[in-house]
Amino acid sequence: MVFAYLIATIGLVQGLKFMGDPARAKLGNMLAAASVLVALVALVIATGWSHLANVFLLVALLAVGTFIGNIWSNRVAMTEMPQLVSIFNALGGACAVVLGLNAVYGMGTPVDTKLLGSVLILANLFGGVAFTGSMVAYLKLDGRKLPRPAPVQKVLARISLALLLIASVYYLVMPGDAGFYPTLLLAISIVALLYGVFLTLPIGGADMPVLISLLNALTGVATMMAGLLFREPVMIIGGILVGATGVLLTLQMCVAMNRSLAGVLAGKFAGSGSAKPEGEQDIRSITAVETASMLAFSKQVAVVPGYGMAVAQAQRECFALQEMLKQSDVDLHFIIHPVAGRMPGHMNVLLAEANIPYASVKEMSEVNNTMEHYDTVLVIGANDVVNPAAENDPDSIIYGMPIIRAHKAKQVIVMKRSMAKGYSGAVNTLFDRQNCKVLFGDAKESLEAIINELKRI
Ligand code: TAP
Repeated sequence: MVFAYLIATIGLVQGLKFMGDPARAKLGNMLAAASVLVALVALVIATGWSHLANVFLLVALLAVGTFIGNIWSNRVAMTEMPQLVSIFNALGGACAVVLGLNAVYGMGTPVDTKLLGSVLILANLFGGVAFTGSMVAYLKLDGRKLPRPAPVQKVLARISLALLLIASVYYLVMPGDAGFYPTLLLAISIVALLYGVFLTLPIGGADMPVLISLLNALTGVATMMAGLLFREPVMIIGGILVGATGVLLTLQMCVAMNRSLAGVLAGKFAGSGSAKPEGEQDIRSITAVETASMLAFSKQVAVVPGYGMAVAQAQRECFALQEMLKQSDVDLHFIIHPVAGRMPGHMNVLLAEANIPYASVKEMSEVNNTMEHYDTVLVIGANDVVNPAAENDPDSIIYGMPIIRAHKAKQVIVMKRSMAKGYSGAVNTLFDRQNCKVLFGDAKESLEAIINELKRI
């Protein structure tokens, strides 16, 4: 059993390491899943045979979960992957709450010490917030209309937080009253579930990356606490890994957005508008044929991919364009913004899928101060991450967020279907720049048209 747990732990850590490299990410994912399976089998062998009914129940539930998960993730469109990840995250939080309640209401391990009781409270607190918070995040990512956050919501969030703190401290100082304890835990769980909603609803569109990684971290911590409660080493280690990576990612996202975590959680950046009313922009459009000749006469070209590239599934056409331009000695780089798309690493995954060489993929920080060297920048389905309002419009909802300075290049061409705004809802002042033109249409179709024209040239 100990040996199997050791193998599973090494597998989990190694799997996580592989996930940091796009070429081995799939292998990492499979290794982590296999490690959890090894731990489960070891658990069943070690403890299950004495309760044969439990073994059957476990195997049946595993089969049902695998079947549903497999069908679901195979059917889901690539653009809906962030929503699916949010639901998986929510389920992790919900499991921690159910396990916690089970410990005091059902069979479970007896919670006979103050220390275990505190662990239980934390599992349900973090799990509850992660569950409802991730469900609201799912609805936001899915573009559902949610009620506009009213000022009373902030008050409710503060009241819930205060209640959670009071209840937790009360438990720690109260004399051991076993009869009251389950009710207290139930109350904490309910308030935590409500707090998840109050906390998540007012957070602005552009700050969603910070929220998503924070909720991920909370699920990890809740799992770790549930693991401590049930004395399950692999659950503890899995929870620690998810919690720690989630915290690191949250901090990285705060840096990428130039936001303080406290400011994001307080919904500080949610309600601002923009100095420029919608529809007042003077747009210059360009055709695919004109774009092709502009690219053919360039020496240095950069592509800034965004969520629209994922929607159009245009990554392979990006690779074809790079190969095409290489034949004419035109150098093409990809510049990735840390929050482009709808999930961390979204663009990296898509570019890796299309076999785009890593050497041509640049981080924003590597090239942002030398953008004027690029003759042409092609913005493919990106919007917020190239919006200069983030640098010079204090009224803009994304003010302060670091952006890719596409506007500094000699020419910028933005590929999009309409004048719809980006995820944050901010007006994009890039379109006001004299060096910016818009190529309207689906990104994949536009790229195909450009490649055909380049072939003809
Ligand atoms: P966005 O600002 O959301 O802009 C996407 C653009 O793609 C839109 O302008 C849209 O315009 C265009 N588009 C959509 N479908 C297209 C298609 N088929 N062909 C061509 N264009 C298409 O994306 P971004 O620049 O990548 O910025 C990401 C935003 O999402 C940030 O605000 C970020 O904070 C937020 N966010 C990120 C994450 C993570 S973790 N990355 C998570 C949640 C939220 P049209 O509709 O006019 O075509």
